Amino acid sequence: MAIPRPVPTGRASPFADDEIIVTKTDPRGRILYANETFLTVSRLTLAAVLGQPHSIVRHPDMPRCIFEMMWKTIGAGGEFFGYVKNLASNGDHYWVFAHVTPSRDATGTITGYHSNRRKPEEAQVARIEPLYRRLLAAEAAPSDRKTGQRQGAELLAAFLAERGLPYEQFAFSL
Ligand SMILES: Cc1cc2nc3c(=O)[nH]c(=O)nc-3n(C[C@H](O)[C@H](O)[C@H](O)COP(=O)(O)O)c2cc1C
Repeated sequence: MAIPRPVPTGRASPFADDEIIVTKTDPRGRILYANETFLTVSRLTLAAVLGQPHSIVRHPDMPRCIFEMMWKTIGAGGEFFGYVKNLASNGDHYWVFAHVTPSRDATGTITGYHSNRRKPEEAQVARIEPLYRRLLAAEAAPSDRKTGQRQGAELLAAFLAERGLPYEQFAFSL
């Protein structure tokens, strides 16, 4: 059963510096494993998340192009590092610095994905937020979603090209 999307409260969900949020998914991003920290910070139960798409914690402030880039990277077998704002079931949010990697079987085929996240510093969030706001605005400007997604991706590519950095290196430089 689909869980109704909560209305964001603007409050931060408690997530301590020494905690790590872990989830594992199938190749389509459906949750197969979630640690206690993920469940506590997201205010969800294991029964509610198992088998659900990971977008269950998607925050409306997150630009689509960031997830698009993440899926392109991990789908091609790469590792992704990046900042993500998530939504807890009570509408509170939490920022993470995520590391997402593919899991493979003995033949090398991707069998799913694994993500570890820690809490970013406030200063890092303050530096990534303006970029995400610009990307979100670029995505929302056209009336059709596809054009919006393309405009967001183009803005992100131009922003990174100006700095001469791929997204992951930019994320680490914050
Ligand atoms: C291992 C793994 C972890 C993910 N973690 C998150 C997450 O914490 N928050 C999130 O919004 N999306 C996460 N995603 C991405 C979602 O699958 C999805 O692409 C994203 O929420 C955008 O959803 P939408 O395309 O339905 O808008 C994760 C995907 C994978 C494979």
